[in-house]
Order: sequence, then structure tokens, then C-alpha cells
Amino acid sequence: MDNSLSFREEKAIKTIHEATSATPQSTEGLQPVIEVYGGASLRGEVRVSGAKNSALAIMAGTLLCSDDCRLRNLPALADIDRMCQILSAIGVKLRRSGDCLDIDARDIGQSQAPYELVSQLRASFFVIGPLLARLGTTQVPLPGGCAIGARPVDLHVRGLHAMGADVRIEHGVVHANVRGNRRRLTGANIYLDYPSVGATETIMMAATLAEGETVIGNAAQEPEIVDLANFCRSMGARIKGDGTATIMIEGVERLHATDFPIIPDRIEAATFLCAGAITHSEISLFPVVPDHLSSAIAKLREMGPEVVVEGPDRVRLIPKSLRGADIETLPYPGFPTDMQAQFMAVLAMSEGNSVVTETVFENRLQHVAELQRMGANIKVKGNSAIIQGVPFLSGAPVMSTDLRASAALVIAGLAAEGKTVVQGLKHLDRGYEDIEGKLRGLGANLRRVWVPAEDTAG
Ligand code: EPZ
Repeated sequence: MDNSLSFREEKAIKTIHEATSATPQSTEGLQPVIEVYGGASLRGEVRVSGAKNSALAIMAGTLLCSDDCRLRNLPALADIDRMCQILSAIGVKLRRSGDCLDIDARDIGQSQAPYELVSQLRASFFVIGPLLARLGTTQVPLPGGCAIGARPVDLHVRGLHAMGADVRIEHGVVHANVRGNRRRLTGANIYLDYPSVGATETIMMAATLAEGETVIGNAAQEPEIVDLANFCRSMGARIKGDGTATIMIEGVERLHATDFPIIPDRIEAATFLCAGAITHSEISLFPVVPDHLSSAIAKLREMGPEVVVEGPDRVRLIPKSLRGADIETLPYPGFPTDMQAQFMAVLAMSEGNSVVTETVFENRLQHVAELQRMGANIKVKGNSAIIQGVPFLSGAPVMSTDLRASAALVIAGLAAEGKTVVQGLKHLDRGYEDIEGKLRGLGANLRRVWVPAEDTAG
């Protein structure tokens, strides 16, 4: 494979050399990129932040409560900032200090989250269940699709309808009202066509204040569902079966104040395990919930490395030579789709063949083209990527297409020969708190620099 850089790429990298790593006074016409210099081995321990996908759902869940709520261990992410903006726009009073967030949702004013915010953060659609349960009426803009798929919300809507809401979509906005002159939703038996994480969360939250019992069949079982259920129970909700395929919720009149810590982010943890594996490094991670990493740990062990569980909240990776393995993404407890791109980067440098099949989202293999630019030998057939491991990757300018793909490109850059320039950091910053600082803390050689936006356009 010809790895020589084109004139444009040379120019882009030359421009980057001239770039400074400090954030310039004005970023007009500039864009941040991460320069990764491959070859460093890592060592030491990295701290894992609170789980983004748990925090976002729980922040929506605070709308269920008319007392003060305090959330702890919140990660510092763009998505968390956006969810704060959305809650404020609904009338929620917020106070952040470090990783703590105090939330007062007593006076929820206008019950429509603004489209310009919802369109940037799909998870903001999770406010529909709590707002409908609290107010009996709400309007939430449809979040629309994203790079990895159409992301419909039909299962959310059908669940709310089953609980006694009239739901109609007009001009891109979902209007939902409790039917008739009833003040509260009504418990219902709901069977999900697909164990959707978001739909399970929407229905479970709405059901906490409904009249009677709701049973969710074929429910999602992700750890973030259990964390949300624990959060709701800490406010007095009556929920059983979370973490299994059948969740039962007995509605109550109102919920009370709570002070709740978010679980560690299993996807971030798996991302660091992949960084250790691809650089043949011994690293440890803290805090983690080892059970939440079962499929990732099993897959890494199959690929060669040892993963040692050290006590209730620490894991250690001990590197071994890497061999190929097959992956099929599935709803939890199957292999998580959010870890697929990161593992593919490792498999690209693992000896032998691997097949990675993405079954959860219809368009989540876009990182393949970028890994190919770095010399990976991968062919896409339908929703599968057939990987032939190569002895080395070579650094190149690469473009992030979505959140986990951007993490995969950083991981590949850690092991590639030469310099990799990862562009499109708006994706990365949505889901990873200071990833370059954390990796540098392990000994990786990478930095964020600002470069002229037009020089590195894809
Ligand atoms: C959550 O998204 C996560 N996001 C995603 O993480 C994660 O990839 C996904 O769950 C699967 O684990 C948050 O929690 C904020 P789904 P969600 O509903 O709830 C289809 C990341 O990288 N579906 O389980 O949107 C859908 O199209 C992000 O952190 C319907 O058809 O995922 C998809 O194919 C990416 N109708 C499948 O279900 C619906 O009403 C899984 O979606 C809802 C979903």
C-alpha cells in the first residue's frame, strides 16, 4: 500500500507543525486537531470519569422531581453542557461545581426544549417522558438522525401512547398530552420490538409517576438502565427487574430529593483498555465496575492480553501479542456497539483475520475508511468488516465521523509509525473528558493544536 503523503497532506502537516498547541486568542478560521506521535508505550493508572450515557438520562430524570436533586461524578463533556442548556431552557435552575450538579426543577416553565439545542444532542429527547409525567403535556422536537443511523423514536412514542398519551408529530415536533381530562399517565403492559436503551429509559421514567403498574417487556439491560433505576428509586420510585428483560414500575404520586453518584463510564474504560492493548502496555484503570466490562474483558482475553480484576473497582491490562477475533455487536450483555470502533483499531494490528459485524446501527463502519488510510487491511461487506491484521499502521491525517470512531483513530495513532492528525474533534469532545490529558498521563505522545480550518478540510 502506497503510504506516501499527497502534497495536500504534506501541506496540512506542515501547517500543523507551524501551529501552536496553546489555544490562540481567537480561534476564528482555526480548528483544533490532535497530533498523535505513535510508538510510545504506556504505563501507570488512568482515572475513569462518570458515565456520559448514564448522566444524560439521569439529568432528564431530574425533571420528575419537584425537590432539589444533586448529581455527583458528572463528566466534563460537551454533551453534559448541552443537556444543562436544555434543562435551563425548560426552566430548571442549575448550579455546577466541579463534578457536582445541583438541580431545582420545581418551576418547569415552558415545556418545549428548543430545536436548535435538541438537534445537537439526541439524548435531549429523553426529557419527553419526565415532562409528560410531570406536566401532563409537552412538546419536544424530533432529534433527527446522526452519522451512525436514522435513530427513530417510534418505540418511545408507542410506549407513551400505550400509557394514555395522545402523541402526534407536527413540523418536526412531538406533541404529547395525557388523553382526556386525566392528570396522570396510566400504567400499561408494553413489549418493545427492540431492546432500545432510550425507549426503555423514556418509558421507565414516565411510569414512575403514572397511575398503576407498568411492565416493560424486552427491555434494554444496559448498566445505564440500572443506574437510572437506582436514581429513580433514590427519589422514591418503585422499580423492579431493571437489568433484566422485564422491568416493573409501580407509579407513585410524587418523588423526593436525592443526592446521587453516577457510575463510571464503561465505554471510556474499554477505550483505555484498547489503548493499552494496541501499544503493548501495562496500565490500570480506576474506578470501574468490572461486571460492566465483562464482554470487553472476555474479548481482550481472546485477543491475547491478560486483564486482571483488582478488587471491586480496578482492572489491570497485561499486554500479550495480539491475535484476531470476531466481534458481533449486540444489546447488553452482548458486545457493545459503542466499543466496536475502538476494538477494530486493535484488531487492525492483531495477527490473523477478524470479522466485525455491527448489528445495532445501520451506518457505524465509517471509521474503516480512515483506518485504511493508515494502512489497515479491512474490507466492508454489508454490515461486516473483514480485517486482515497488519504488522504496522502509518500515521496520516484522518477525519472523525462520530464519537467512538474518533476515539478509534486516536488509539490507532498511538501505535502507528509517525504522526497521525485526528480532525473533527467536536465528536471526540462530546464523549471523552480530556482524553489527550489522560493518555499523556500514561506516557502517550499527543497534543491538541489549532490549525487553519481550510488547510485540513477532508
Ligand atoms: C443509546 O442510544 C446510547 N446513547 C448510544 O451511545 C448507544 O450506542 C445505544 O444506546 C445502544 O447501546 C445514549 O445513551 C445517550 P437505542 P439510543 O435506542 O438510546 C433503534 C455513544 O456513542 N431504535 O438502543 O439512541 C435504533 O435505530 C452513543 O455514546 C428504533 O428503531 O440507542 C438503533 O438501531 C451512540 N426505534 C437501535 O434501536 C426507537 O424508538 C438501538 O438504539 C429507538 C431505537
